[in-house]
Amino acid sequence: MKKITLGGMQASDIVLGCMRISDMAVSRVQELLETAVEEGINYFDHADLYGHGASEEVFAKAMGQKPSLRERIYLQSKCGIRDDGGLFRYDFSKSHILKSVDGILKRLNIDYLDALLLHRPDPLVEPEEVAEAFELLHSSGKVRSFGVSNQSPMLIELLQKYVNQPLVINQLQFGVAHTPMLDQELFFNMTADQSVDRSSEILEYCRLKDIAIQAWSPFQYGFFEGVYLDNAKFGPLNDTLDAIGRKYGVSKAAVGVAWILRHPAKTQVIVGTTNPERLKAMCKGSEVVLTREEWYEIYRAAGHKIP
Ligand SMILES: NC(=O)c1ccc[n+]([C@@H]2O[C@H](COP(=O)([O-])OP(=O)(O)OC[C@H]3O[C@@H](n4cnc5c(N)ncnc54)[C@H](OP(=O)(O)O)[C@@H]3O)[C@@H](O)[C@H]2O)c1
Repeated sequence: MKKITLGGMQASDIVLGCMRISDMAVSRVQELLETAVEEGINYFDHADLYGHGASEEVFAKAMGQKPSLRERIYLQSKCGIRDDGGLFRYDFSKSHILKSVDGILKRLNIDYLDALLLHRPDPLVEPEEVAEAFELLHSSGKVRSFGVSNQSPMLIELLQKYVNQPLVINQLQFGVAHTPMLDQELFFNMTADQSVDRSSEILEYCRLKDIAIQAWSPFQYGFFEGVYLDNAKFGPLNDTLDAIGRKYGVSKAAVGVAWILRHPAKTQVIVGTTNPERLKAMCKGSEVVLTREEWYEIYRAAGHKIP
């Protein structure tokens, strides 16, 4: 599996996302974790929100079966979303960040996180407070690298004005069925709907600043409406992925991964499958380099227009 440089890390370009593991038995999570490592994945994404902490707990139990694993993998988690009885609020206050990280470390049963991300923008953010929290977390050795998720260029600029540590990651929804950041670039200065700026040129900004994009929900369309794989709503896309997959001897999902990785931005793909066989098939996508023609063909087959 290919690697990218992320802060001081050599991280696999496919990440296992742990959002959906909270209800799984420890033995099944262990199987998933071992499959991931065997396939070359060394990076795992969590959030304190996932299963209200249960995802981190079950992962820790699975990892505990092989204690030597901790030093061979990178563990990332996210904080900043508060679920107050089903009501989401965002909280980037110093006290909330510090309390969240202590909870994450406890649940994952580890001494340090390799990366901490701020999960979703908090309009009430006071960047000085974030800076103080990050400084304490970094100097105490609790967190080694920092980043954000779902955040715009100007918000990153605002944070980075105060935060001493470089923000090296922005986790964003990206996959062939969710491409606002590409559409706007293609339709720049036109009157088409696609030229409406929904992403503030975040793709170009991350490339300029050497910030890695972690593509979340790579197979989903809409906001958790479902996956495009084997979905009759995406017939031409599935046919195209199938044909290209046969050429490379890989699955449609692997081609979906390769499509994201073909973009020259520094990118990781966070796959969220809980199925070891699907995971193995997806991992093959790291080794496939699509041609320019194939990349555009897949984009078009997903229903996107090209001016
Ligand atoms: N920063 C953020 O705001 C944010 C938001 C959402 C997610 N994330 C991160 O991104 C990760 C991935 O998100 P995701 O789980 O939505 O990503 P995903 O990989 O696009 O979707 C995974 C889901 O698709 C299903 N699936 C896979 N192949 C399928 C097929 N051929 N047919 C039908 N269903 C199929 C999986 O089921 P099986 O398990 O049965 O394979 C699983 O339920 C999360 O774990 C989390 O780490 C971050």
